[in-house]
Amino acid sequence: MNTSPAIHLDQIRRPSPATLVIFGASGDLAYRKLVPALHTLSCVDLLPEDFVIVGAARSNLSHEQFRARMQEGVQKFGRLSGDACGDWDEFASHLYYHRLTYDKADDYRDLARYLQELEDERGLPRNRLFYLSTPPTLYAPIVQHLGQAGLSQTQGEFTRVIVEKPFGTDLASARQLNQEIHQVFREDQVYRIDHYLGKETVQNIMVFRFANLIWEPIWNRRYIDHVQISVLETVDVGRRGGYYDQAGVLRDMFQNHLMQLLTLTAMEPPTAWDATLLRDEKVKVLRAVRPPQGNAIRTNTVRAQYRSQDGRGPTYRKEPGVAPDSQTPTYAALELYIDNWRWQGVPFYLRSGKCLAKKMTEVVIQFKEVPHMLFDHDEQRPVAPNQLSFCLQPDEGFHLGFQTKVPGAGMRTRTVDMTFHFAGTFGEKALPQAYERLLLDALLGDASLFARADEIEYSWRIIDTILQGWEGDDAPPLSFYEPGTWGPAAADVMLAASGRAWAVSCVDTD
Ligand code: BG6
Repeated sequence: MNTSPAIHLDQIRRPSPATLVIFGASGDLAYRKLVPALHTLSCVDLLPEDFVIVGAARSNLSHEQFRARMQEGVQKFGRLSGDACGDWDEFASHLYYHRLTYDKADDYRDLARYLQELEDERGLPRNRLFYLSTPPTLYAPIVQHLGQAGLSQTQGEFTRVIVEKPFGTDLASARQLNQEIHQVFREDQVYRIDHYLGKETVQNIMVFRFANLIWEPIWNRRYIDHVQISVLETVDVGRRGGYYDQAGVLRDMFQNHLMQLLTLTAMEPPTAWDATLLRDEKVKVLRAVRPPQGNAIRTNTVRAQYRSQDGRGPTYRKEPGVAPDSQTPTYAALELYIDNWRWQGVPFYLRSGKCLAKKMTEVVIQFKEVPHMLFDHDEQRPVAPNQLSFCLQPDEGFHLGFQTKVPGAGMRTRTVDMTFHFAGTFGEKALPQAYERLLLDALLGDASLFARADEIEYSWRIIDTILQGWEGDDAPPLSFYEPGTWGPAAADVMLAASGRAWAVSCVDTD
């Protein structure tokens, strides 16, 4: 197959021959993300010498129908479809479909037999990776049935299971799910996905921090005034109203994606690039996060819903599957503190919401002001302290705002922006999609970019505390924001209380 120079996963060894079973293969994730990602990996010769992908689901599909549907997904969503990777037929010859009813034990015994036949026919070792891409209520039953059918045992080099999000709906359910999984699989067999960790730019936070000398000495409370983490989306809840109304933005976005960004930004340097050491450091951060409680639940949290005043834009309460009097927030902003030496007293402002002005994910490190300013500055543009922004999406890269002399007489200063963008340096198609990286790592047995059981639980502890606070007497009122704006006024008020404001560094604000 073609090897395009625009790929940067290329220093990685290829995994051993293996079988990947995707439960829920007739769903959207397989169609939009998983199979397109696997196809791209095969284009760049990063899949094993031989492999089999078995789609398993309830729908009655032939192998050919499954292949045709996956081909459509690859054409629409694959990073390297078309000319860059033409050989569909070769890839399709690795794709199979197996119908199964999720709660029927016999069907798993059939699956076990089917996998053995396929493996024997192709001379594949019994290396197996199971991907749970079904509704979350099926995770525990599938795992249990896999165990009963003998499919969790390692018969080749490995047997692993990837579990999609959401992982639980609160601490208690996440704990229970961990226990149920651990009855069948050892922790080192379990790969809990958070697709944010598969994003190159998210991984780059670690490279930026720990492969450069200049940041770490100033990455602390002495130099940093505060940190902002924004994950803004333009989409509404669409067809997912039924799920979303039960979940809300804290469960849907904060428990996983925003907490991952927080831990990577705040953690201590691990001593090696190693799944255990890395995740140990992340867990330490989560354990040190002080969730707002008591009075702070009102002053340090904001919850809001999108609502169109003139009825021309979308209104959350009118979305299909959403209760007409729903209190579920589609936007939240939090002011969090991390109780350790590095971060004592430094606010971490987190915000995320749907139906906002721009799609933008950024982490902004706002440094403190210089202790004493010698120079005049442009009255129209006050001296801004240094600001470092990681633009995670779109236009991935980073910006560093700093002061420079305005040319001419005098010594006036102005803020200018130094930028780096991946596309400019590495090419437009250089950034692998998140699922490419994560599927490859799971096949290789590298769990660094997957959440560990305790990590998930500590993160839920924070979210649970806030959700409980929102049920109590100190809860902030649910506010509303117009779709297409930057969110509710209450979120601006929260920062303004300490003289701060939300930053937008990575996209134009007009
Ligand atoms: C998912 C959430 O995990 O992440 C969605 O369930 C959200 O509600 C999506 O839209 C955002 O992902 P990305 O990669 O588009 O930022």
